Amino acid sequence: MRPTFSRKRFPELGNDLPRFDPRRLIPLSLRRKFNQRFGHPDIFKYFESDSDWTPPAGEFGELYANHSGRLIMKWVHYLPIYDQLFERYRSGMPGSSPNRPIRMLEIGVLSGGSLELWRTYFGPEATIFGIDIDPACAAYDTPENPVRIGSQDDPEFLTRVVAEMGGIDIVLDDGSHIAKHQRASLDILLPLLNEGGIYVVEDTQTAYWESYGGGLRRRGQIVEVAKTMVDGLNKWAYRGRIGKRAKLASTEIGSITFFDSIVAFRKATRIAPATRITGGSEQERRSWLPTYRQT
Ligand SMILES: C[S@@+](CC[C@H](N)C(=O)[O-])C[C@H]1O[C@@H](n2cnc3c(N)ncnc32)[C@H](O)[C@@H]1O
Repeated sequence: MRPTFSRKRFPELGNDLPRFDPRRLIPLSLRRKFNQRFGHPDIFKYFESDSDWTPPAGEFGELYANHSGRLIMKWVHYLPIYDQLFERYRSGMPGSSPNRPIRMLEIGVLSGGSLELWRTYFGPEATIFGIDIDPACAAYDTPENPVRIGSQDDPEFLTRVVAEMGGIDIVLDDGSHIAKHQRASLDILLPLLNEGGIYVVEDTQTAYWESYGGGLRRRGQIVEVAKTMVDGLNKWAYRGRIGKRAKLASTEIGSITFFDSIVAFRKATRIAPATRITGGSEQERRSWLPTYRQT
């Protein structure tokens, strides 16, 4: 049976105004009507025109379009982003020799479809676990794609799952999308991620939605957390106190990439920044001294 999606199931859409916005004086029902008409892109259009839909170019889009297993719902612009972020892991963990198959944890199982698709994408050797708070998701627990039931903000649960996986290279947080849950998972799992691994939080549009604990530039929502970690990436360039997440970024994060509704943290032990001069004459090289100093 074809699943039905209605805006009623996504009441937050078009509905999250800043706390003191005067538009709040307009009745919610009217705001919703207005927003449905004018405010948001029609995110449901692809359900209504499946047959004539062409996926964006790329392997993941191709697999997504041809997926015939359990239900998955992804924003279309994520499909090429997944290729950009995950392509390098398809033949195993970069830098391991011989290439060790990757270990991935997906937070948020829902109907089990995305676990199936990750299996297709990463191949039979990969370890792919899913976790979900909803006990009904235990129905999708299989030997290929084990599913464990628990909350993404429970440190003991997450640590146990990672131990069972034998370590972790990739995390995809597609769970509750609530700010404090996203932060909790990041704080627990990012330090556990293997060197060269990647931690991806998706649906970060909710970082701007009040009902998810978000808001534009609101402290503690995941986009703001990632921004403060950017300061950690550049810590060598200034003096000043930084928080624990920025501190982690200053030593263990190689890059933080922002996309529309996705943030990705790449784990990489940082090397002390240093310049090196090459080319030119010896005299030129001697006279062109680097001026950077580490803090
Ligand atoms: C957006 S759906 C996941 C969709 C799935 N990844 C896919 O692409 O088809 C979000 C899932 O997160 C689960 N969830 C909500 N809160 C959670 C929490 N605190 N810990 C773990 N999972 C949670 C929900 O039960 C739901 O199944």
